[in-house]
Amino acid sequence: MNKKLLCFCVSVLIVVITSGQSFSSPDGQFKLNFKVEREGIPFYSLHYKDKQVLKDSKLGFILKPSMSYFSEFKVEAVEQSSFNESWKPVWGPNREVVNHYNEMLVHLVQNKTGWKLDIRFRLFDDGLGFRYEFPVQPELRHFTINNELTSFNLGKDYKAFWIPADYDTNEFPVTTSKLSEISKLIDDVRKESLAAKAPSKDLAVQTPLMLKSQDGLYINIHEAALVNFAAMTLNVDENNFILSSALTPDKNGDKGFIQTGSVSPWRTMIISSDAKKILSSNLIVNLNEPSRIKDTSWIKPTKYIGVWWEYFTGGGSTWAYSDNQDIRIGETDYRTLKPNGRHGANTKHVKEYIDFAAENGFDAVLVEGWNEGWEDNQAYRKERIYSFTKAYPDFDVKELHDYAKSKKVKIIMHHETTSSVVDYERQLKESFQFMKDNGYDAVKTGYVGPMIPRSEHHDSQWMVNHYKYVTETAAQYHIMVNSHEAVRPTGLHRTFPNWIAQESARGTEFESFNGNRPDHTTILPFTRLIGGPMDYTPGIFEGDLSTYGNNKAQLSTTLTKQLALYVTMYSPLQMAADLIQNYKKYPDAFQFIKDVAVDWDASYILEAEPGDYITIARKARNKNEWFVGSITDENPREATVDVSFLPKGEKFEAVIYRDGKNASWNHNPKSYEISKQIINSGSKLKIKVAPGGGFAISIKPLK
Ligand code: NOJ
Ligand code: CA
Repeated sequence: MNKKLLCFCVSVLIVVITSGQSFSSPDGQFKLNFKVEREGIPFYSLHYKDKQVLKDSKLGFILKPSMSYFSEFKVEAVEQSSFNESWKPVWGPNREVVNHYNEMLVHLVQNKTGWKLDIRFRLFDDGLGFRYEFPVQPELRHFTINNELTSFNLGKDYKAFWIPADYDTNEFPVTTSKLSEISKLIDDVRKESLAAKAPSKDLAVQTPLMLKSQDGLYINIHEAALVNFAAMTLNVDENNFILSSALTPDKNGDKGFIQTGSVSPWRTMIISSDAKKILSSNLIVNLNEPSRIKDTSWIKPTKYIGVWWEYFTGGGSTWAYSDNQDIRIGETDYRTLKPNGRHGANTKHVKEYIDFAAENGFDAVLVEGWNEGWEDNQAYRKERIYSFTKAYPDFDVKELHDYAKSKKVKIIMHHETTSSVVDYERQLKESFQFMKDNGYDAVKTGYVGPMIPRSEHHDSQWMVNHYKYVTETAAQYHIMVNSHEAVRPTGLHRTFPNWIAQESARGTEFESFNGNRPDHTTILPFTRLIGGPMDYTPGIFEGDLSTYGNNKAQLSTTLTKQLALYVTMYSPLQMAADLIQNYKKYPDAFQFIKDVAVDWDASYILEAEPGDYITIARKARNKNEWFVGSITDENPREATVDVSFLPKGEKFEAVIYRDGKNASWNHNPKSYEISKQIINSGSKLKIKVAPGGGFAISIKPLK
């Protein structure tokens, strides 16, 4: 590849037209048609190869109070251009990303009002992005969105991998059904969510939405660069197979306050007849702006352990220091409270984690439950739930800072807000300064529960702005952010590479409530991960939680599938989530977690089918080491690992961590085998995968 960035733009053709206008992707496989029809309504349609993917699909908005910003339009001008560059992400599954597209910008003007609206379409070789642009104009300075009318007129039934629309959570199990079956199933699925607080009443689903047609076309619908706008969910018209945008409202039902001179997020469709291409697409990051952070040297992919899983196992540890719930932040003297004797984040225990991290090459230790407030953290009557600058009496900030520093390990700060967002913003700068003063450079934020006090929703415009504000402010302090329960990502990590990961889906914590199914992680890369990396927190070896006490939950995977997840679930932030004692019990399997990289030069999607299986290989950044992960759903299979990505003419040692002969997720999850094999770029490994199983391989040049 060229060392220098390659960039050229070809433009600009301005034409005044009255009827339809079309353009194609660089490889000519996609063709988009645009027209204004009937009462001046803008429509687009899309072809891929010889297939019509979208029939005429509506564009535009209804403004409040009930004004059309979708009809009476005429086309004023159309500009076409192309763009081709490659750029280097700060971290990512590949060292270089090609951003190659053709573009069509349509300038519309409304007959009666004179209001202008621009629509910018981009066709890549892997799909479509388009957004609305609201030019500065004398007659329209700002407006309120009542409804966005963007639609995706699929015109036929598809198999869908969906979760219900909900303004406040993405933490649902994924259901696989036809689009036409969603209404039958959606109420039961909503009940399955532990987190749903304000479900939308409409028949609607969340994005990223993965679809597959009967004739094998894969379509992923999402959005890119969600900034100063409400998150989009999709209404489902089951009779005509039309999906249409349903924006997350605020508490008054308003869907966005827009000032002209701004743009909407991109509405995106990644499309291929090969499921592997959906996973290798860069369309979402390409539609985001380049990094706003100039010096990125402080942003580091991180592998970490944490005082965390012990809160979920049922083993007795608590986030809270005391059982006394009668506390008030800023007034209660914690030294006068009786400790409950089970507080997880105590100095001695955290030191054990720091020691284990140092011994095993981890970069960091996450500590939850270090700060005042957990005793009464559901107490919505109080102005302040937590302090983010006051540690519990048994958590010695200074001593732990010095200790961690001496061991070259970082501590990751935790800011659970319980969605008390206004108070978090009040404390934000002070808390980040406190972090810097004490050697922290990463924070895990949390937004459990309903928003207080504004009754905003997690995915509304106001909150979307909050997450960005936290990330931008964190960057000023050189702090990396891993947000939990925030709106699902839309590729903004390109612009803010300190936004190192997010949760925004069911992660490993749901294993402790029996909430994940064996196919869950074969779907997430096709849905949630399309927007950005996930802090999934894999690495659970002891999957039988009755070991610890009353929790009857059982892991939905085999032990070696947990290893595979470090490769199949892309993230520059990876946790080894299990307790130290379990890693000590299985040191040979633990070796893979110690070895696996968290940043990559190149990624190779070898096998993929949503809901069924995924096999991915990746080359470690700046190292001649490769790692392979392969997972299946509840069905056993034989995977083929074609290692032709390896340099030719050399020999390599592959260490294979695979399911034992009689392994399965629900009967014999901890049965595994580790073997070594000499391979070269011509090798094709056939490896059996158990029900709910997986395998991992590490590959190094033979010495
Ligand atoms: C939910 C988060 O996903 C989890 O990781 C965290 O431990 C709890 N909230 C408490 O903040
Ligand atoms: Ca969560």
